[in-house]
Amino acid sequence: MMTNNNSYHEPIMLSECINGLKINPTGTYVDVTFGGGGHSRAIYEKLDSQGQLIAFDHDKDAKENIWEASNFKLIESNFQYIKNHLKFLEINYVDGIIADLGVSSHQLNEKKRGFSIRYESKLDMRMNQNSETSAENIINDYNDIDLLKIFQNYGEIFNAKKLVDKIQSARESKRIQTTKELLDIIKHCAPKNKEYKYFAKVFQALRIETNNELIALENLLYQCEQVMKKGGRLVVISYHSLEDRLIKNYMKRGSISGEIKKDFFGNILKPFKEINRKPLKASEEELKKNNRSRSAKLRIAERNG
Ligand SMILES: C[S@@+](CC[C@H](N)C(=O)[O-])C[C@H]1O[C@@H](n2cnc3c(N)ncnc32)[C@H](O)[C@@H]1O
Repeated sequence: MMTNNNSYHEPIMLSECINGLKINPTGTYVDVTFGGGGHSRAIYEKLDSQGQLIAFDHDKDAKENIWEASNFKLIESNFQYIKNHLKFLEINYVDGIIADLGVSSHQLNEKKRGFSIRYESKLDMRMNQNSETSAENIINDYNDIDLLKIFQNYGEIFNAKKLVDKIQSARESKRIQTTKELLDIIKHCAPKNKEYKYFAKVFQALRIETNNELIALENLLYQCEQVMKKGGRLVVISYHSLEDRLIKNYMKRGSISGEIKKDFFGNILKPFKEINRKPLKASEEELKKNNRSRSAKLRIAERNG
């Protein structure tokens, strides 16, 4: 039976995403970030018995939100392997793909997962609980140059050098193991009255590195063009500018780096055309109900012929 699990995660910009996918009831759709299954359920409800939905999530907890149906399947895997999994299922082309990036409310609220600055827990931050690298490994085992790069590139932290120096001198005497220990060590790096924002950026950087998020997104985007039918829709929600930049470049310019290739006549060569030039944002009504929708940016594109 299909039941909503909005306590696991409230789907963001649901009707905008479903409209963006322009669902064909007999089509094949892929939700690469199943989570609580909110977007998946809304897609599935639009399909008839010939349509099918394939979902991905590399967090095993997402399995608690599945339902039994012959035309629905959740694959416990990183979405960067989408093409191989589809091939294994003998699916060459799909009609639409949705990605709602980042972490679910469930992951943030589960204290022991270590994603939130609000709770004391082990420095974990792995979305895939079987993965070998946790945030603790990064904080304690990466050299100072690599740590600096992570905080500069993924957290855009203005005083990353000072931050790394603090971490380095603390870890010389003892391994840094919990979120609270880390926050205590770096608390004097944060600008006054902006501590929360600063710590959130530090955690964001660590989370991106722990889960290799930008690489996975890059791999996903390049495979979308290989598996999408002509006219198929790609719908992506991102929550920070690093992800949005990649998606925007890819949809607008045809490459993740933003480099443009043109044909003989000067037309830009790109696999997708944008449906909305600017990203869609959550409505006032949704913003009032769900704070997480605040940073959401939705981009929709259609596969060119
Ligand atoms: C924001 S939540 C998605 C919520 C979902 N749209 C819903 O309505 O409940 C993101 C989910 O995607 C998963 N995820 C993030 N990156 C992933 C990746 N590279 N491969 C597979 N799953 C991923 C996370 O584990 C999380 O459950």
